[in-house]
Amino acid sequence: MENIFDSHAHYDDRKFDSDRAEVIAALPSQGVRAVMNPGCDLSSSLKAISFAETYPYFYAAVGFHPEFAGKMTQKDLESVASLAGHPKVMAIGEIGLDYHYDDACPREIQREVFAQQLALAKELSLPVIVHDREAHGDTLDLLRKYRPEGIVHCYSGSPEMVEEIVKLGMYIGFTGVVTFKNASKTLRAAAAVPLDRLLVETDAPYMAPEPCRGRRCDSSLLEYTIGALARVKEMDPQQLADLTFANACRVYHIPDGQN
Ligand code: NI
Repeated sequence: MENIFDSHAHYDDRKFDSDRAEVIAALPSQGVRAVMNPGCDLSSSLKAISFAETYPYFYAAVGFHPEFAGKMTQKDLESVASLAGHPKVMAIGEIGLDYHYDDACPREIQREVFAQQLALAKELSLPVIVHDREAHGDTLDLLRKYRPEGIVHCYSGSPEMVEEIVKLGMYIGFTGVVTFKNASKTLRAAAAVPLDRLLVETDAPYMAPEPCRGRRCDSSLLEYTIGALARVKEMDPQQLADLTFANACRVYHIPDGQN
């Protein structure tokens, strides 16, 4: 397979500390033509930018993940805004809401920090990369209010919610979860996504697809995710890779043929 765009991966994660440069350098020979590495706070956003400066096929996003929302100061938000001016920063992300953990950052603060970054993205005309875990209602409310361009990543909602997101003009990213045995709901959701709004992603180092589930994930494993989605869409896997590559370039405003 060739022409793979991993629309969401975290190569700054410490799970890559022992062999990061080797893993990243091997990707082009494994069919991976582009990677988006979003940040989760200021230091990971800076790392994402340094990868994008080092590797022509890497792009960065900057922002505060809901897990770190409680740490974002006004000064941090200003830093995100200034980093967003870097030519290889293509989005604000990842931002959003995560209601999974009881001891997480308070929901009110998560919503406030998400809203501030949605407003920033609008101001800068950048797309957003949205994390929504067990927070579907509040996520949709804020997306309806701010109407950003962008992506709902690692999609875990219903097929009905797909329609709402598509109506807002946004794209939807699927991870290795579509290859898992209990994936029927996610596969039904994927079936509901129009072909021009579909993206593939690893969320590396997490979410390794079958048959590598439980292992550290990197972008070379996307072929399994692409294979599962190609079956849903009754397409040739290479065709699906080509299509999702073009979609990622469109949503991230990457000019055609830049890589
Ligand atoms: Ni992520």
